[in-house]
Amino acid sequence: MKKISYYICLILYYFIARHLPGSDMPYSFGSKKIRRFLCKRIFKSSGNNINIEHGSFFASGKDIEIGDNSGLGLNCRIAGPLKIGRDLMMGPDVMIFTQNHKNDRIDIPMNLQTDPKRPVVIEDDVWIAARAIILPGVTIKKGAIVGAGAVVTKDVPEYAVVGGNPARIIRYRNGKKV
Ligand SMILES: CC(C)(COP(=O)(O)OP(=O)(O)OC[C@H]1O[C@@H](n2cnc3c(N)ncnc32)[C@H](O)[C@@H]1OP(=O)(O)O)[C@@H](O)C(=O)NCCC(=O)NCCS
Repeated sequence: MKKISYYICLILYYFIARHLPGSDMPYSFGSKKIRRFLCKRIFKSSGNNINIEHGSFFASGKDIEIGDNSGLGLNCRIAGPLKIGRDLMMGPDVMIFTQNHKNDRIDIPMNLQTDPKRPVVIEDDVWIAARAIILPGVTIKKGAIVGAGAVVTKDVPEYAVVGGNPARIIRYRNGKKV
């Protein structure tokens, strides 16, 4: 059972802090520090110097882990279980999903079929660019880049740059041949 402080932080986040200005606005009113303070008490675990941007939605946040110097981008919509390493850069409007609607039975509606959650893992030093969508069960390995608008359906190898729908490898940052 979560502590009462968790629920207070969650309410303060969704009613107030989420709507404060972007962290790097000249008139941010300390929004970066306020969101960080609250999210450190909401998330399952949280490193130092995290940045949770304006508009971020993460449901209960209780199954989200985030490492040092990592950020959630403007207006992102993410779901747990989600494990984020260090130094994640996330562009605006990114979506991360961890559950599908089960659909293998046709005798009952899909909204009565449940599919187990499949965690998403994002390793250290990853850049997820604007409007990317990450689907359930995906691992994005160390040093990878997910290009703008990519729909990531499979694991992304170390230092790969991926783009498109479905996302394909464009090149490797470490010189490996595609
Ligand atoms: C993924 C990205 C980093 C790749 O940059 P790059 O390595 O310089 O790649 P290039 O521009 O040389 O393009 C290489 C190829 O990949 C394709 N490509 C590049 N970005 C792509 C993307 N997001 N989706 C699909 N294909 C893409 C190019 O069309 C090109 O294809 P071609 O070889 O058939 O002509 C970049 O294109 C991108 O998406 N940047 C995101 C910018 C952004 O969202 N900024 C907001 C701040 S987070």
